[in-house]
Amino acid sequence: MTSFREMRFDDLFKINSLLFDSLTEVYSLTFFVKHLLEFPGLSRIAEAPGPNDGRRMGYIFGQYLAKQNKEPHGHVAALTVSPEYRRLGLATALMEYFFMVSDHKGASFVNLFMRASNIAAYQLYTAMGYAHRQTYLDYYPDHLEPENAYEMRKYIPRPMEVQ
Ligand SMILES: CC(C)(COP(=O)(O)OP(=O)(O)OC[C@H]1O[C@@H](n2cnc3c(N)ncnc32)[C@H](O)[C@@H]1OP(=O)(O)O)[C@@H](O)C(=O)NCCC(=O)NCCS
Repeated sequence: MTSFREMRFDDLFKINSLLFDSLTEVYSLTFFVKHLLEFPGLSRIAEAPGPNDGRRMGYIFGQYLAKQNKEPHGHVAALTVSPEYRRLGLATALMEYFFMVSDHKGASFVNLFMRASNIAAYQLYTAMGYAHRQTYLDYYPDHLEPENAYEMRKYIPRPMEVQ
């Protein structure tokens, strides 16, 4: 049975195989360590039971951004599910968790950036009610041809305040 739990520092050394996916955003170890310190409780891992501490099936790195003059929102920095565990609903479960936490923190919406060519991600997010908000031209410079990014966004419904 899959178990979901908060990401720990030692997980960072056990998700290498997931990071090699060509559609996964690759960040440095320093980025991930800082991320876990700055946004505790917003990153989660799906784990398969087994000997030697289980097997990492997928993860989400989330951020909560509430700077001045900006609507507070949850931001998905990275989401990857290991190829052998795809189409089982793991990404959906990780995204649903992050949406719920962002809601509890008072976010107005949850957003993320994805490669324009990433059909699986586009299907996943639109199936979950995310809408294409904006296109950022040549956002990903690391390919031979730079690639555009789509910002995908889903608003969190709030009851109307009655005066
Ligand atoms: C995109 C990704 C996270 C999806 O993970 P997943 O656990 O397989 O997704 P789910 O099982 O929750 O899929 C939910 C729905 O998303 C859509 N979907 C997921 N993968 C799809 C694919 N390869 N093609 C078409 N639709 C897809 C389907 O609508 C699916 O529902 P269904 O299986 O009932 O048809 C995974 O393919 C992945 O890690 N890709 C590489 C990294 C990446 O692209 N991350 C996102 C960057 S923004």
